[in-house]
Amino acid sequence: MNAGIRHLVSIDDLSLPEILELFQHAKRFAQDMRAHSQVARGLISASIFYEASTRTRLSFESAMLRLGGGVLTAADMRLSSASKGESLADTVRVVSSSYADILVLRHASEGAARLATEYSNVPVINAGDGSHEHPTQTLCDLYNLWVERGRIEGLHVMLAGDLRYSRTIHSFVYALARFGANIVSLPTPGFELPPYVVQRLREEFGVEPMRADGEKLGDLARSCDAMYLTPQKPHQLSLFTDAKGISVEHVDAVYMTRPQTERYTSNDTLPPRPMSLTKQSLAGASLRDAVVMHPLPRRDEIPSELDEDPRAIYFKQAARGVPIRMAILALLLGRLELSAPRSAVDVRYHPVSVGENPCPNPTCISRTESRHVTARYKLASRFPVRGFCAYCSQELPARFVGCTTTGLFHERDSAAARQIRPDHLVFFRDEPQALALGFHPALRPTSPLEAASAANAGSPEASSTSA
Ligand code: NCD
Repeated sequence: MNAGIRHLVSIDDLSLPEILELFQHAKRFAQDMRAHSQVARGLISASIFYEASTRTRLSFESAMLRLGGGVLTAADMRLSSASKGESLADTVRVVSSSYADILVLRHASEGAARLATEYSNVPVINAGDGSHEHPTQTLCDLYNLWVERGRIEGLHVMLAGDLRYSRTIHSFVYALARFGANIVSLPTPGFELPPYVVQRLREEFGVEPMRADGEKLGDLARSCDAMYLTPQKPHQLSLFTDAKGISVEHVDAVYMTRPQTERYTSNDTLPPRPMSLTKQSLAGASLRDAVVMHPLPRRDEIPSELDEDPRAIYFKQAARGVPIRMAILALLLGRLELSAPRSAVDVRYHPVSVGENPCPNPTCISRTESRHVTARYKLASRFPVRGFCAYCSQELPARFVGCTTTGLFHERDSAAARQIRPDHLVFFRDEPQALALGFHPALRPTSPLEAASAANAGSPEASSTSA
């Protein structure tokens, strides 16, 4: 609504220098949590939680109160007008009018926080949107690594459990990759990192996924295919790899996750023996001094016998959620100036102007609140043409793309397709869909010469492309 407002929807909204500067402020806040009650004096935060929460909501509220601000809570949206059918968009409009100065939002639909920014008059903080992202948990997790290990770059972080539906994992891997940390993924079989996440890691952050040799990773690696995801260039690793994959000699942190059963569909089944981190599974030499992290709540994946192990930091991790959230609130409320430069990345979202919403994800906010959402996409690559939903980040399935000015459609990996301006692009699942929407097939060039001339002259868009 107001273009000048700063929101925190994705971990990408913060530059790495900004994140490091926020850590310094969190450390300062943590030194004396009771000494900062002037920072947000006179300001109010509203917690709007459509999903269960203990740590995220309470640590945000504690952070706001410690900064001297006030808190409004709609912790159980079943008791709000949502139960009368009110849309998220309307709720956000109202609460951001004069009720609160900042919104902390948790919702079951991916992209909910992005939608909220389109209707809000005040900053929106994403406190978890479906299985998509959870940027403030990631700031907390990175802060913990920074406190415990003194750096993030070059660390080896092992991620285990449900990597498919864990939003904490998705924000975390993007940030780890940007910081230059290496990731060892140990997913519960069937719950691997989603393809759209891996694709983004490869294409935007230069991460190379390789096989990891499970040998030195202890028990946990025996039940799954271990992957090594590194932002290093492959030639830097060639010395350490063989047919069994990359051998990981030293792990700095093990990050365990809970099976996110509330998001499972009828196609998802847990293995008979879900992953669990036992004393035995931490006995391997490579895990000797790895800190054990978990966003909590835990179920059986970390038995209480580990709580006394000096490597187990998950309760400290949760406690550090307060000072880091004090820093985030102070920043977004305009009560903390950072000297670090903001991220230079200017992401553009383009409206889907023709046909139905191409987003394939049934729980995306663009599908669950379709009355209030104009489907939008981000152009991920031009050759082949590939787009991601602006809300849930999933790839739009498209064999063909059309141009609204020429009325023609093309194979998405054709020379002509890459000439279409993003605002004129239409994504088609298949040929019948393109024909049904009144588009005509472009003549397919048969020789390389024809392909070149089609690219240069055949498209009226050719001289005016911009990404
Ligand atoms: C996580 C969440 O809600 O995504 N919890 C949290 O915010 N600390 C992890 C989980 O629920 O498993």
